[in-house]
Amino acid sequence: MLAYVLYTALAGLAILPLLVYWRKPYFLHDLRYAITAIQIARQLVRFSTKKPFFSILDCFLDKVSKQPNKKFLVFEESSYTYRQADQESNRVAAALSSILKPGDTAAVFVGNEPLFVWLWLGLAKLGCTCALLNYNIRSKSLLHCFSCCDAKVLLAAAELREAVEEVLPSLKQQGIRVFILSEGDESDGIECLSDKIRQASDEPLSPQLRADINIKSPALYIYTSGTTGLPKAAVINHERLWMASFLQSVAGVRSDDIIYINLPLYHSSGFLMGLCGAIEKGITVVLKRKFSASNFWNDCRKYNITVIQYIGEIMRYLCNTPQRDNDRDHKVRLAMGNGMRADIWADFLQRFGNICICECYGATEGNVGFVNYIGKIGAIGKEHFLHKMGCPYALIRYDTEKEEPVRDSRGFCIEVPRGETGLLVAKIGARTPFSGYAKNKQQTEKKKLKDVFVKGDVYFNSGDLLRIDHEGFVFFQDRIGDTFRWKGENVATTEVADHLLMVDCIEEVNVYGVKVPGHEGRIGMAAVTLKEYMEFDGKAVYQHVKSYLPSYARPRFIRIQNALQVTGTFKQMKVKLAEEGFDPNVIQDRLLFLEDNQGYVPMTQQTFNSIAEGRIKL
Ligand SMILES: *[C@@H]1O[C@H](CO)[C@@H](O)[C@H](O)[C@H]1NC(C)=O
Repeated sequence: MLAYVLYTALAGLAILPLLVYWRKPYFLHDLRYAITAIQIARQLVRFSTKKPFFSILDCFLDKVSKQPNKKFLVFEESSYTYRQADQESNRVAAALSSILKPGDTAAVFVGNEPLFVWLWLGLAKLGCTCALLNYNIRSKSLLHCFSCCDAKVLLAAAELREAVEEVLPSLKQQGIRVFILSEGDESDGIECLSDKIRQASDEPLSPQLRADINIKSPALYIYTSGTTGLPKAAVINHERLWMASFLQSVAGVRSDDIIYINLPLYHSSGFLMGLCGAIEKGITVVLKRKFSASNFWNDCRKYNITVIQYIGEIMRYLCNTPQRDNDRDHKVRLAMGNGMRADIWADFLQRFGNICICECYGATEGNVGFVNYIGKIGAIGKEHFLHKMGCPYALIRYDTEKEEPVRDSRGFCIEVPRGETGLLVAKIGARTPFSGYAKNKQQTEKKKLKDVFVKGDVYFNSGDLLRIDHEGFVFFQDRIGDTFRWKGENVATTEVADHLLMVDCIEEVNVYGVKVPGHEGRIGMAAVTLKEYMEFDGKAVYQHVKSYLPSYARPRFIRIQNALQVTGTFKQMKVKLAEEGFDPNVIQDRLLFLEDNQGYVPMTQQTFNSIAEGRIKL
C-alpha cells in the first residue's frame, strides 16, 4: 500500500524537493508525513535484510520480552498480557505441530475472539500461512474459499460446527482434516482441538521452523469480493502485511494508546491495520465480537480507549444513536479507517468532540493507497509528491455506460484533467507489485489494465472512480463493476445471482445495487425473469437467500421482468437499472420488497415513502 512512498523516501530524495514547497499551506504536514515515511522505509529495509527475516511475529516476540506484563488483549471480562498471549499461542503451535509443517496453509473459521489471535500467532510460529475465512459464508462459498488457498486443515469455532458439517462430505473427499475448537464430541471427520491445546506445553517451539520465510513469502490470505463472482483470496505477503501495519504510525498512534477493534478480523482493516498495527506499536487491543452502536461509547469509557477504527457506515450508526449528555465524555483522540462521508464527518466531530480523523484509502490486494494526513473533511487522502515519484498512478477517463476506459485514436488511455473524476490505475512494477489472487489467474488478469500510456505497460485497475482537487486532496466518487458495498461489506452480484438461480421459478437474474437516501453504499436489488408457466415463489426465494446469503447480501428488492435488458455485447445492463432505483412510480415492472423476518411482499408507494423518510430501517 505504502510501498511506493516508502521506497522513494528511502532514496533520500525526500527532504530536498520539499524545500521548494515550503510556502504551501500544508507544508508542515507534508514534511511530517515525509519524515514518517522515511523512518518506516528504513525500518522496512532493516527488517527485510535481517537474517533471518524480521516478521510481525518477531516483532510480537520482541514486545513480549520488552513488556511481558503489559496488557495485549482485552476481551469481554478477560484480559491477556503480552506474555500470556505468547504462551497461549505456544500451546496452539504445540498442539498443531504434529499436524502441520512449515509452509502449509491452515484456514481459520472463527469469529472475533482471543482464540482467533492465538491461532494466527500459533500458525505463524509454525511457519504456516493463515487463511482468514469470513465466518458469515456458508456452503458453496465456504468450500470455494477454503479450496482456493490450498489449505490442509480447517480450524473452526465451536459455534460454526453446523456450517462445517454442511460441507464436510466435500472436505473429507479432498482429504482435509477438520478441527473444531471445542472439547469432546468428536464425530466422523471432525476432530476436537481444545483439549489438545489446553494440555499442550506453553514453551516456545524452535524458531528454526520459520527459517525459510522471507519478506515475499505469503503470510495470509484475505478474501475480497473484488468485482465479480465468488470471493477471491488476496495473497498478503509479509511485505504487504508490514506496510499495512505501519499505517498506525502514519496516523500518529503512540505506544501508550489503547485501540478498540470491532471490525471483523477476517478483513484487512481489522486484521492488518488494527491488530498487526497494534503489535507493531506494542499497544493494548480491546477486541469486540461485533460492532454495536449502543455500546460503543460505554466501551470506550470502560476501557479507556484512545484510538478507534471505523468504516464509513460505523460513524453513521454512531451519529444516528440518540444524543446523550455524556457524548463527549471519553478519551478517544484518534479515529482511523475509510469510507466516512463528509456530512457524517462534520456531524461526528461536532457531536463527539475534537477527534483527529485519519482517513485512508487502499484495496486489500491493491498496490496504491492514500492517507488523508491533514484531516481535511471528506477527503480519502492527500497526494504527496513522493507518491508519484515512487509509483506512477493516474486517474483516467472512464465510460460508465460501456464500462471501460476511454481510449484515444492510438488506443491509449486518457488522463483526466485535475478536478475531474477518473478511474484510479496504478503501475505494476517491482516496487509496486500486485500479488493477485490465489489460484485465480483469470481474476488476477482482470484487475490488470494493459497498454495504458505506452505499449506494453501494465496497471492495476482499482475499480474506483476518484477525483483529485487542485490542492491534491483525493475524493472518492464511485465504484465500478459488479460489486457494490452495503453495510461496509462488498456484495458480489454474480454470487448473489448464482444463489437466486438455484430457486426453481427463476430463469434469469441481474443483481445490482441501488442508492437509498441517507445511506452509504447501495442496497441489493435483483431483476429476474421467471421460467415459463411459473409463478414467482416468494417463500422459496426468501428461504433460499436467508439460508445461503449473509443479511447484507440478500436482495432487498426484486423486480420481475419479461426479459432482461442486455447491452450490445450481451452484458447485463446494470447502470440504467440502478439509476431507476426502487420507486414503484418509476418502475413499471412488478416490484417486491423484503420485509424483515417476513419475506417478499409487494412494494407499495407507502413503503417507498417510509424508506425515503427513514421510517423503515434497512
Ligand atoms: C481508566 O483510567 C482511569 C483514570 O486514569 C483509571 O482509574 C482506570 O482504572 C482506568 N480503567 C481501566 C479499565 O484501565
